[in-house]
Amino acid sequence: HSAISDVLAGKYQLDSKVTLKGWVRTVRANPNFAFINLHDGSCFDPIQIVVDNTLNNYNEISKLTTACSLSVTGTLVESKGKGQSFEVQAEEVDIIGLVEDPDTYPMAPKRHSVEYLREHAHLRPRTNLIGAATRIRNCLSHAIHNYFYENGFQWIATPLITASDCEGAGEMFRVSTLDAVNPPLKDDGRADFSQDFFGKEAFLTVSGQLNVETYACALSKVYTFGPTFRAENSNTSRHLAEFWMVEPELAFADLAAVAQCAEDMLKYVFKAVLKERMDDLEFFDLRVQKGVIERLQKLVDTDFVRMDYTDAIDILQKSGKKFEFPVDWGVDLSSEHERYLAEEHVGAPIILQNYPKDIKSFYMRLNDDGKTVAAMDVLAPGIGEIIGGSQREDRLDVLDSRMEEVGLNPQDYYWYRDLRRYGSVPHGGFGLGFERLVAYVTGIQNVRDVIPFPRTPNSAPF
Ligand code: 4AD
Ligand code: MG
Repeated sequence: HSAISDVLAGKYQLDSKVTLKGWVRTVRANPNFAFINLHDGSCFDPIQIVVDNTLNNYNEISKLTTACSLSVTGTLVESKGKGQSFEVQAEEVDIIGLVEDPDTYPMAPKRHSVEYLREHAHLRPRTNLIGAATRIRNCLSHAIHNYFYENGFQWIATPLITASDCEGAGEMFRVSTLDAVNPPLKDDGRADFSQDFFGKEAFLTVSGQLNVETYACALSKVYTFGPTFRAENSNTSRHLAEFWMVEPELAFADLAAVAQCAEDMLKYVFKAVLKERMDDLEFFDLRVQKGVIERLQKLVDTDFVRMDYTDAIDILQKSGKKFEFPVDWGVDLSSEHERYLAEEHVGAPIILQNYPKDIKSFYMRLNDDGKTVAAMDVLAPGIGEIIGGSQREDRLDVLDSRMEEVGLNPQDYYWYRDLRRYGSVPHGGFGLGFERLVAYVTGIQNVRDVIPFPRTPNSAPF
């Protein structure tokens, strides 16, 4: 059988015979004709199937309801209706699966709230919204792999089970092989989970960066793209407990090179989605957020602005704006600050650089001023931080004193220190929150709606 996307894209000639398989979106029927909108998820639009009462199962066909599954064979004809150029004159309609109880089918073809859809995570892929977000997500992930492949990066599978807390924020989920009901006990009688991974301690990774650095220091240009986990109790529209991250790492690179890579990669993937998924983007532009297409087109042609953290603080202080969180040199920026800078002050993505060392991770390279590090965040208008990255500390003595400052035991990181002992090179990279990217491209307001099964502090997994 053929994909509806291929038929609507004109890959088959008029009058040719096609077989399509999919699900009914809507049916309009009278005693003589039925018009079925059939979709199969391959593209945004369904295709119209025209059935007349000469088919021997016309009676059943005319009673079909939303979500029934069908196989249709017929002739491709020009559409008389507006909007579409092709429809299928059915010669045979096989009903594959009926809907047991149409009146209680949860995904009736109307607009549902995103909250309602989240409660039906197993059925929501059938909606326009989630279907379109899924195709865009797929397009973006291929574009990311293509960008790196074309630019000579190796894709590295970094582990999900780890002992290292890359971000040092203590937000790791414990991985345990122990019997949770009858755990071993400490002297004080309380459960002892300290040696739970076959006698050692282990966690789910918050970032593949430390591992991927080892490959950058051998293969020069590498990246990892996979799930990461954060046990932070953040109930916001930008945070998930399980999210996907893209993390390139470049050897022989300084912060400027890392920033350039981030800008180039984002523009590459924006171009790809504009080229390949206009059908879905038009839906988002019309129904979710006006102007998303124009925003993407503009981003492709706009230079991202580089700005120092210290200058940003100055701008925020002089803005005359009343922020919920006051700004002072040394504070971490909150999303209201980030959005003011990107949306109101500059009106373009900003690559904010050289943050105070005390609000950043131990692995970032200390600048000559002794108080800032070669860190960067990409702040996008409309969402705030979408990328975080840095040049890494490549000097062993400086790294050691930074680890000591933040209370890490250098022995636990002997392998990370070895990279600085044997042929150390300037290197750096960044992490792109993949769900934040998909949310940004689609205009969807909440990252819970761009990942198939969102895990958050208040969602029950299944
Ligand atoms: O800024 P973060 O914490 O940086 C790192 O993890 C570095 N190790 C990356 C690197 O240099 N290789 O996270 C990077 C990005 C953020 O900018 C944000 O887009 C996303 O990951 N992110 C989240 N996305 C969804 N839910 C969460 N809880 C997220 N935490 C971070
Ligand atoms: Mg960050």
